[in-house]
Amino acid sequence: MKKKNNTDSRRVGIFGASGSGKTTKALDLIKNCQRLIVFDILDDFIGYFRRFTSLDELKVYVIKHYTKGFRVSYVPPYGSEARALSDLSEFVKYIQTGYKIGAHSAKVTLFVDELNRSFPLGLTRNKPLNAFGFLCNQGRHYGVNIVGVSQRMSMVDMPFRANLSDVYVFRLADFNDVKAATAVFGSQYRQTILNLPNYKYLYKNENGVLI
Ligand SMILES: Nc1ncnc2c1ncn2[C@@H]1O[C@H](COP(=O)(O)OP(=O)(O)O)[C@@H](O)[C@H]1O
Ligand SMILES: [Mg+2]
Repeated sequence: MKKKNNTDSRRVGIFGASGSGKTTKALDLIKNCQRLIVFDILDDFIGYFRRFTSLDELKVYVIKHYTKGFRVSYVPPYGSEARALSDLSEFVKYIQTGYKIGAHSAKVTLFVDELNRSFPLGLTRNKPLNAFGFLCNQGRHYGVNIVGVSQRMSMVDMPFRANLSDVYVFRLADFNDVKAATAVFGSQYRQTILNLPNYKYLYKNENGVLI
């Protein structure tokens, strides 16, 4: 019988200008995740997680350590970040098939920094068969938490932004991003968004806006 345990996977978006505090927030949110895969295009997280530059080697390690847990990062080849994120997401979907069919309840968290580079606006309009887009839409049925971070809220593709359970908005540098954030929080928050200092954020989940 299928377990009804698929309601509490999160899809978290963290947006803000460079230096506003996004990555620090994300690292705090994922600090206790037992099964964690970090997609690290800038190689920012050397020393934080077990680091792989080969997806095949990461797969072997994750499958071997699935039961005990794993905290790994994948640094993809420069220039093919979108392809690499989709390939990694395909693997996450594969390892979570057991969750989907109710065989177990182990969740996996996928943390993607600089998401506008690997999942840019318009990507899935031209190529709808993107596995990260699939996880944005269907990941909760697979026990997949997603934490996505970007400087440019308005430049991240819609399947991610349209499926968020939790949104953090830090200080934004670009007017299009202020517009995107105002669309999520409501026009009454526009001035609050414009006035955010570094390390302060607006937060929204299903229960409403929390400052
Ligand atoms: N809440 C905070 N209080 C004090 N310093 C912070 C806080 N959050 C982040 N910082 C510092 O600010 C700098 C930028 O933070 P970071 O999370 O890397 O920003 P971003 O990812 O948005 O560029 C880092 O040196 C970090 O240590
Ligand atoms: Mg950062």
